[in-house]
Amino acid sequence: MTAPAALTIRPYRETDHDAIYDICVRTGDRGDDISEQLHDPRLLPDLFVGPYLALEPELAFVLAAVHRPVGYILGTADTARFVAAYRERWLPRVARPSQAPSDEWLVHLLNRPEWMSHPELADEYPAHLHIDLLPEARGNGYGRALIETFRAALRTAGVPGMHLTTGVSNSSAQRFYRRVGFVPLPQEPPKGAIFMGQPV
Ligand SMILES: CC(C)(COP(=O)(O)OP(=O)(O)OC[C@H]1O[C@@H](n2cnc3c(N)ncnc32)[C@H](O)[C@@H]1OP(=O)(O)O)[C@@H](O)C(=O)NCCC(=O)NCCS
Repeated sequence: MTAPAALTIRPYRETDHDAIYDICVRTGDRGDDISEQLHDPRLLPDLFVGPYLALEPELAFVLAAVHRPVGYILGTADTARFVAAYRERWLPRVARPSQAPSDEWLVHLLNRPEWMSHPELADEYPAHLHIDLLPEARGNGYGRALIETFRAALRTAGVPGMHLTTGVSNSSAQRFYRRVGFVPLPQEPPKGAIFMGQPV
């Protein structure tokens, strides 16, 4: 696969919204497209993308080719504050019942944002993030550049550290995260996940 010639990192704009949703679905199965596995593929971006774009758009950055986004990083500076805002302002827009067994785990997470809340991480690593690149944008240093962009924004905001949750089975992403400074955290993660963190 050929990498796009020149990609740029820039702040998120509202017109990027649908493209970011699309990238989330197309990378949702450990980097592969998840749409065939879910009855309602929009569940994934409504959980892992939409609330950040709505609640903390200033912490969302887009990796863009000339005419379209090909990747993103987004997150929150303060997970506890984010979870409260999600429940109050985001959940009323997206809450829904599961319509198929395939979707039950995501609906469960979507409707109960407190799964993201980990008081034991709040002092050292209050921020958390999500990052996804389309296949053609990977392997060229842009993931690292996006992490550094996010780090700079957190530093400006005076945030001491960031964490992330990734699937135990996503060993490829874990190798990337280690290369860009994250280390596994000893705190007990949700089932099937691991916590990684680093100072900002
Ligand atoms: C994971 C991801 C964000 C990495 O972005 P990327 O642009 O491919 O990574 P970079 O090219 O910036 O790599 C940065 C460093 O990590 C290393 N790295 C990246 N992916 C790696 C992998 N799968 N295995 C080992 N090392 C890896 C690179 O070799 C590089 O090392 P160096 O800078 O020390 O030489 C991207 O591949 C992706 O979006 N994957 C699919 C979606 C996904 O899994 N997202 C995370 C969900 S938790």
